[in-house]
Amino acid sequence: MERRWDSLLFVVCLILSFAEIVNGGITSSYVRHANFSLDMPLDSDVFRVPPGYNAPQQVHITQGDHEGKGVIVSWVTQDEPGSKTVLYWAENGGLKKLAEGFILTYKYYNYTSGYIHHCTIEDLEFDTKYYYEVGIGNTSRQFWFLTPPKPGPDVPYTFGLIGDLGQTSDSNRTLTHYELNPAKGQALLFVGDLSYANDYPFHDNARWDTWGRFVERVAAYQPWIWTAGNHEIDFAPEIGERQPI
Ligand SMILES: *[C@@H]1O[C@H](CO)[C@@H](O)[C@H](O)[C@H]1NC(C)=O
Ligand SMILES: *[C@@H]1O[C@H](CO)[C@@H](O)[C@H](O)[C@H]1NC(C)=O
Ligand SMILES: *[C@@H]1O[C@H](CO)[C@@H](O)[C@H](O)[C@H]1NC(C)=O
Ligand SMILES: *[C@@H]1O[C@H](CO)[C@@H](O)[C@H](O)[C@H]1NC(C)=O
Ligand SMILES: [Fe+2]
Repeated sequence: MERRWDSLLFVVCLILSFAEIVNGGITSSYVRHANFSLDMPLDSDVFRVPPGYNAPQQVHITQGDHEGKGVIVSWVTQDEPGSKTVLYWAENGGLKKLAEGFILTYKYYNYTSGYIHHCTIEDLEFDTKYYYEVGIGNTSRQFWFLTPPKPGPDVPYTFGLIGDLGQTSDSNRTLTHYELNPAKGQALLFVGDLSYANDYPFHDNARWDTWGRFVERVAAYQPWIWTAGNHEIDFAPEIGERQPI
């Protein structure tokens, strides 16, 4: 009997010490309310199209290499193909550089996308603030990002983690909560289920565009790193869409 208590105590101590080691801390006491929340209406402020003819919208960045010296900038122009060029410069560097990207479009059932631009910027310095500009003339738009520190043991870097975001008013609260968190995420790991456009009749892909405009306020300023969830599956043979994603 005594031995069993000994070993139980040992196991409890082991669990406690392990819990101590892996404890990442609690950054917020926030608990989401249980009510179902509806998608924000199409005329919501967060979905507003930036002013000006063919202005870049849905601007977002992701990591462009394995080291942290590359960034991929993506954006959409609605009316016609835009400039494929990203102008960028380090905050303290002065010299402005250009990177050239490419443009894609796609169709889904009766939806036709805008002009989707992707451009990779390479050979950036670590731990540096860069400004970048997309678009032409008076409809060009400026953003910025910080590159990560040089990789190494014990180099601090703070990732945010979001999944199942969608575009309801709760989604907006979640994003605001992330923006205001004092822990200050430097990059975001998105664990799938982005826009929930597939919940709409014919998977209304216009709800991808609203989602892109909604998240721009964060996703244009720090890399979001993506995985696909089940809501990214657009297989709908009943409307002739047979590609899974
Ligand atoms: C949740 O729904 C109930 C019933 O409709 C309502 O009384 C309550 O105020 C709602 N709570 C929130 C946080 O919206
Ligand atoms: C941009 O310039 C054009 C003409 O040069 C003008 O018609 C348009 O209203 C301007 N747009 C913005 C957003 O200032
Ligand atoms: C696509 O088809 C649906 C159903 O017929 C219709 O409600 C919707 O307005 C159409 N969308 C476009 C962009 O034509
Ligand atoms: C979304 O949140 C932002 C920032 O908190 C706020 O300014 C905006 O009005 C909200 N929009 C909607 C539709 O909830
Ligand atoms: Fe999910």
